[in-house]
Amino acid sequence: MSRRPVNPSRRLVDGGSLPFVGSIHSKSRSSPLLTIGLVVGAMLLIGFCYHQSGGSRSNIEAVSKVEGGTLCTAEVQRAIPILKKAYGDSMRKVLHLGPDTCSVVSKLLKEEDTEAWGVEPYDLDDADASCRRLVRKGFVRAADIKFLLPYRAKSFSLVIVSDALDYLSPRYLNKTLPELARVSADGVVIFAGYPGRQRVKDSELPKFGRPAKLRSSSWWIRYFVQTSLEENEAVVKKFDQAAAKRSYRPACQVFHLKSYS
Ligand SMILES: *[C@@H]1O[C@H](CO)[C@@H](O)[C@H](O)[C@H]1NC(C)=O
Repeated sequence: MSRRPVNPSRRLVDGGSLPFVGSIHSKSRSSPLLTIGLVVGAMLLIGFCYHQSGGSRSNIEAVSKVEGGTLCTAEVQRAIPILKKAYGDSMRKVLHLGPDTCSVVSKLLKEEDTEAWGVEPYDLDDADASCRRLVRKGFVRAADIKFLLPYRAKSFSLVIVSDALDYLSPRYLNKTLPELARVSADGVVIFAGYPGRQRVKDSELPKFGRPAKLRSSSWWIRYFVQTSLEENEAVVKKFDQAAAKRSYRPACQVFHLKSYS
């Protein structure tokens, strides 16, 4: 076969938003009516496609608010009054780690007697103005939590982590969890998703790198034992009591670990 000057499939791509341009032109000489019919048909089709994609996008957004990748971060905000009951004074200097950490930090900063900082494990590229302000003031930073955290031992009274450990394999958990116990003085609170209850929308997957591995509470407890991290029974009791009193049922699993002594 002879080489053609233009690869037809290439031209489809080059045609951009009007993929039928090429074929319409070649037929225009033979039948103008057919051309008009094709153009109208193409426009209807394109309009229909735009309509469809717009509609489904807003659907996805509505769903992700409920079961998106930041569900447990939203849960931390709801749990602040309960955490204050359980931890009291230990809420004075809090570090939060997790996606959308700005939302938690700004909420904590509104509490009396609470200072707060945040680590965003992903990027802050789509941060809004108030989040960028927190970054500028040094309250929030982006950091890869798979590696050592840039803080001295016991820099914070309490460390809270949400929607972040679910994305780490045991190999990295083995590094990150002891780090959290190291930089905290009075405890580590883990908000982890329930298996089967959470789903990250596909468009968010590149951000998290891999799908969340939602583990059962027995998995976590076995893991704590294996890595010599101790649950803080006294706090667990206080947290559960405060939660029962306010009929608060967290949408995520909540674990309370002791810091290294
Ligand atoms: C994590 O640490 C525990 C306890 O030290 C060890 O038993 C386990 O093999 C480690 N897991 C990985 C994947 O390195």
